[in-house]
Amino acid sequence: MRLVFLGPPGAGKGTHAQILVEDYEVPQISTGDMLREAIRRGTPTGKKAQECMDKGMLVPDDVVIALVKERLGHDDAHKGFILDGFPRTPDQGASLDAMLAELGMPLDMVCYFKTSQATVVRRLSGRWICSQCGKNYNVVNFRPKTAGICDTCGAKLIQRPDDQEETIKKRLAIYEEQTAPLIGYYRNKGILAEVSGDLEVKPLDAAIRMAFSARTAGKAN
Ligand code: AP5
Repeated sequence: MRLVFLGPPGAGKGTHAQILVEDYEVPQISTGDMLREAIRRGTPTGKKAQECMDKGMLVPDDVVIALVKERLGHDDAHKGFILDGFPRTPDQGASLDAMLAELGMPLDMVCYFKTSQATVVRRLSGRWICSQCGKNYNVVNFRPKTAGICDTCGAKLIQRPDDQEETIKKRLAIYEEQTAPLIGYYRNKGILAEVSGDLEVKPLDAAIRMAFSARTAGKAN
């Protein structure tokens, strides 16, 4: 399974990647999670990324491309991966093509989560994440067992700094301008599958799995 999850902030890319990787036993490669981890650890990459992320802007292509290139070289990525939040610009898309061609690992499918703005705003304003392990919760439909505490590691839940209303608007505008052109790019390559990001978790998970099965069955014929 070699997938890219493409869609606006809050579409459910991270949540649905976490569900799928358990069954398919491939890593979720989330550039957002990798950058937040770099910020937590205070690395040079984290220092470069923090200001852009807090403002809802994209981190420079060269920084993100280097992270993904390094990560795709790990052994666990050779049996497959779900790229969550990468690529996000046409230059990142071209770099990914080059990296995967070099590794002999072409993409099976790009899953595009077509999602309304109302859904995005509702989900992001209700999202809480674990300050330690990054696990996602939501005040509407994914509440922790104990309020404010992560079920998995017991750490405190926090809101992401970029989930403030003004920053969400900025992230959506940047998505339309810089990331949405990738939809046409992958459609032209014949590997785009569109699902509705407005669906609740179970039907959306089923739609992603169905799209993947159809895609792999098509390749086998
Ligand atoms: P990143 O962390 O990738 O954020 P994003 O793409 O903006 O996406 P989100 O994590 O906000 O949303 P999601 O689609 O994963 O939704 P989620 O599953 O969490 O990036 C953050 C920042 O890092 C960027 O702004 C940029 O600065 C930088 N960055 C990252 N990658 C970069 C790159 N390639 N290039 C340059 N800069 C980069 O779900 C949201 C909420 O909804 C959760 O609470 C969840 O519980 C709930 N939910 C999810 N699915 C459903 C569902 N089906 N039904 C109901 N609720 C749901």
